[in-house]
Amino acid sequence: MTDTVTIFDTTLRDGEQSPGCSMTMPEKLKIAEALVELGVDVIEAGFPIASPGDFEAVRAVAQKFGDRTTICGLARCRREDIERVAEALRGISKPRIHVFLATSPIHREFKLKMAEAEIVKSTVEHVQLARSFCDNVEFSPEDAARTELDFLCEVVEKAISAGATTVNIPDTVGYATPNHYFKVISYLKQQVSNIGQAVISTHCHNDLGLAVANSLAAVEAGARQVECTINGLGERAGNAALEEIVMAIKTRKDFYGVETHINTPRLCGTSRLVSSITGMLVQRNKAIVGQNAFAHEAGIHQHGMLQNRSTYEIMRSEDVGFVGENMVLGKHSGRHAFRARVTELGYTLDDAKLQKVFDDFIALADKKKNVYDADIVALIDKQTIVSVERWKLVQFHIGAGTGTIPTATVELRDDANPEAPVSFRDAAIGDGPVDAVCKAMERIIGVTAELKDYQVRAVSGGEDAQGEASVEIAFAGRRYHGKAVSTDIIEASALAYLKALNKAVSETPKA
Ligand code: KIV
Ligand code: ZN
Repeated sequence: MTDTVTIFDTTLRDGEQSPGCSMTMPEKLKIAEALVELGVDVIEAGFPIASPGDFEAVRAVAQKFGDRTTICGLARCRREDIERVAEALRGISKPRIHVFLATSPIHREFKLKMAEAEIVKSTVEHVQLARSFCDNVEFSPEDAARTELDFLCEVVEKAISAGATTVNIPDTVGYATPNHYFKVISYLKQQVSNIGQAVISTHCHNDLGLAVANSLAAVEAGARQVECTINGLGERAGNAALEEIVMAIKTRKDFYGVETHINTPRLCGTSRLVSSITGMLVQRNKAIVGQNAFAHEAGIHQHGMLQNRSTYEIMRSEDVGFVGENMVLGKHSGRHAFRARVTELGYTLDDAKLQKVFDDFIALADKKKNVYDADIVALIDKQTIVSVERWKLVQFHIGAGTGTIPTATVELRDDANPEAPVSFRDAAIGDGPVDAVCKAMERIIGVTAELKDYQVRAVSGGEDAQGEASVEIAFAGRRYHGKAVSTDIIEASALAYLKALNKAVSETPKA
């Protein structure tokens, strides 16, 4: 029987720690649902002690999915952290408590001010405490990649004796290189007497762009759990990208000799969902899920592909659920053909949702001649990605042109009390029409944010392609992202900016 590698997804915990990527509870639930459908083995749903919101989110994910997939909560080596995780996971059939404590000399001296013996003592005490709540306990010696090897072996051995069922070896700062990391895992396998009683796990950050390579080197050395995130989201340069790990293991099964439980045709859909919710764009040439991942430009490649796809393609696009630029439907396509295409694209929509997406499709087909698969996916995302947004764009009008001052009038609806929504109108001038619309919205909401990044790109091919706008704003010392799609790029920009503002105001306590 082939060995299986456990895929531990930490998009909702480490991924959410990316600047500007905080998510609301319905957004977390939506991502958790997608992760369950993707087939991940463990979902790290959050860090319950961090805030009441984090606690509630872990609890909600656990309640909804804790009988289908293992749900994990993170805890420092502190009693109150562990009790909080246990509380959030109470009653589910597949809980896991993940306890961590830094072990590297730098962390021991400057952050923890603890001696080696104290680290070992605390590890044992807290792993035992976690085991008193749950049979499935993971221990992580934080910054393991910069920890003295013999001390690392000692801590890991003691953690396993205390009851850890998974020992995770984090490269917290992305310092490792593949050969180095291979040796670390191999050393642990050779030197830790009870290593056979636990699963060895990896958790690699991407500061040197090596997170995926390091994780795979660890698998080669015998690790059987990989911690990763969708689109490689995570602190700083991010974590190892789930889609890359999974497809490397699948494509090079001849070399690694292991498998995962991942339903790979859902990879691209899950990537799009995470990108839409967090507002973090996926770069065009990103491996596996980027728009260009399966595009062949050079004539010689195209010629080879026509003879035999395997000349230049190591994976089939359908195996990752890649949606290309096929022109599929037009204005006269019926509801039946539309439903069939939606199903072929891998979506299951109930009748009410399908009707809404179909109505949007007819409206879009009126505006643009060719409707591509990517357009349909954008319409589905718009209707299915739940976002609880207080402010809604009702209408806007802009005046812009050479020799005129760009102006915008905007109407927003305040849904703070959904039973009695109130509309507000205002106007502003700006450096350009997009700036004017954003300023008018800020005037209505009563906030001023700083635009940090702004990008517009085409969703599909053709001159009449829909525009996808992505913005990053800074507000009250934090970053927020927003992303939206429309045939009108000013509308897409306004909607993306409003999404980011909605996130910002929902997190900022009222004065
Ligand atoms: O990067 C890290 O060390 C972590 C631990 C909490 C596992 O995220
Ligand atoms: Zn991490």
